[in-house]
Amino acid sequence: MAERSTVEVKFEPLGLRAMVPGGSLITRAMLEAGVLLPLDCGGNGTCGRCLVLVEGATSPPSQAEERLLDREQLDQGWRLACQTKALGDLRVAVPETAERADGGWRIDDGDVKDLEGGTPVVTALALEIPAPTLQDPRSDLARVLALAGGEEHAGADLATASQVSALARKHNWHLAAFRRGAELVGVAAPGVPPLGLAVDLGSTKIAAYLVNLEDGKVLASRGRLNPQVTFGADVVTRLQKAIRDPAEGRRMTRLVRRAVGDLAGELAAQAGVEPSQICDMTLVGNSAMHHLLLGLPLEQLGAPPFVACLGQAIDIKARELGLKLAPGAYVHLPPLVGGFVGSDNVAMIMGADLDRPGPVRLGLDIGTNTEVVLTVPGGEHAMVIASAPSGPTFEGAHLSSGMRAMAGAISKVEILDDQPVCFTIDGGAPAGICGSGIIDTVARLLEAGIINSRGHLDRSHPRVRADQRNISYILVPAEQSAIGQDIAITQKDISQVQLAKAAISAAAGTLLELAGLGVDDIAEVVLAGSFGGHIDVAGAKRIGLIPNVAAASYAQVGNAAGKGARKVLVASEMRARAKAIPAMSRYVELASETKFNTLFARSLSLPESSF
Ligand code: FES
Repeated sequence: MAERSTVEVKFEPLGLRAMVPGGSLITRAMLEAGVLLPLDCGGNGTCGRCLVLVEGATSPPSQAEERLLDREQLDQGWRLACQTKALGDLRVAVPETAERADGGWRIDDGDVKDLEGGTPVVTALALEIPAPTLQDPRSDLARVLALAGGEEHAGADLATASQVSALARKHNWHLAAFRRGAELVGVAAPGVPPLGLAVDLGSTKIAAYLVNLEDGKVLASRGRLNPQVTFGADVVTRLQKAIRDPAEGRRMTRLVRRAVGDLAGELAAQAGVEPSQICDMTLVGNSAMHHLLLGLPLEQLGAPPFVACLGQAIDIKARELGLKLAPGAYVHLPPLVGGFVGSDNVAMIMGADLDRPGPVRLGLDIGTNTEVVLTVPGGEHAMVIASAPSGPTFEGAHLSSGMRAMAGAISKVEILDDQPVCFTIDGGAPAGICGSGIIDTVARLLEAGIINSRGHLDRSHPRVRADQRNISYILVPAEQSAIGQDIAITQKDISQVQLAKAAISAAAGTLLELAGLGVDDIAEVVLAGSFGGHIDVAGAKRIGLIPNVAAASYAQVGNAAGKGARKVLVASEMRARAKAIPAMSRYVELASETKFNTLFARSLSLPESSF
């Protein structure tokens, strides 16, 4: 069919649309329309995660589609969005895992508390400014600076200075001035407190907190999907894409900056304040997120020995990132640790106080990459740190019946009389399985002997079904599910869990060995991150995801990286503490540790682990 110059692509059920040149891939239309669908393989046609139902004129199925879809699916209109071109107007039904780019959600941190004091990074001054007269014709800025520390000691950002004249007159020469070090970074109506923004920029999710800088109180918090998920689920895929095509890298930079800016606006609206009141910000993320946000060179980070272009803590003006905060606002980025282990790990360490003296502790921040921190009291380094390539399995949405941890998600499973009993987050009809549900499911199936120690499903079990493509255990039959389809765990899902848990377990085992410690030396296991905060500890121990140590305690601390980012936001001492962490740590590149490979192979068994 002839290609039209411009076509309309509508996305259901999100109600979004885009006009794109005829012949564009559906994934391009998704980006234009603001549809975020995690594309695990980055659009290479290998993962099958971009399955959509299409109505309208399209390009013929590609080789990848012929390989991943069967004839019946293709006849029904199922296509891979990354392979299919729009030749005419299209209606595209996207899966449940798709999100609106402007969507967001409440952060369930469990521990969003006000923070202890310290020396504020930004101080608020209540100024009563003498009005100018013929006898005192000093400039407006000179009058403000004289009160804000003396002209010779204080300076002002030009953009801030330009606001002084109008604001001072509007408020009858009474102003709130926000000073950061020697610089005036913002002025506001009298009585307005200085606000700050702490951002945890994850590969999959972005969490942001609006904080009163005077008392550390969280005024609003919100999360949203990192729009870069449409370029690949993991940082390596994204880096490879950006290195191969710098225009793609620039697009990722633009998208993530815009998402952070949008979050700032949403949080301000939620708290009933203006974004221009935000006069300081911290942002933490892994090394790839950090470099992509700043638009730094990526080649050296994408290949061994995985070196950062810039790893020390830096402060830059928020406006350099296109963020519309107070005109003189800064963004503080704490230091990176090494390899892909970035400032989010520094923040996690601070959030969980792992850099404070104490017994041997194992910290796990479970995500697409799992940061593993082992504290070594009395060691040459106070901490040894590694990043385990655990993949997106525990994000839930990447499983065959997976979904985010939200209403309808199965989070807990029991097997009674050989029948599964599923519990959803909200008690409603099940719609899919979230990350904590998959751990529980594997643990229970293992206990019931429905999967063996190699992770293989028992094909003779009445709930196990096999077809040409997959072997599945049916957790909820279609007629009882909220989506009219079976909710199942497939052999592939189980393999993904084995790979993820083996990576985490082998990473921890490698660190223990390098530190000369044994598993029984661990006094506390700290589980961080939204996933770590919700998993069933007994189930996670059962499958060997976390160590099973009788004497250890297990602390589920929620988004410790977000907490650490807020600590760094409010107090100068915390910034100094964050800066010290890389020097007190030994970063271990697992790819160069032969021990890791040995332990990884051993840890694939259930529940065998390296702990
Ligand atoms: Fe992986 Fe399309 S097949 S994103």
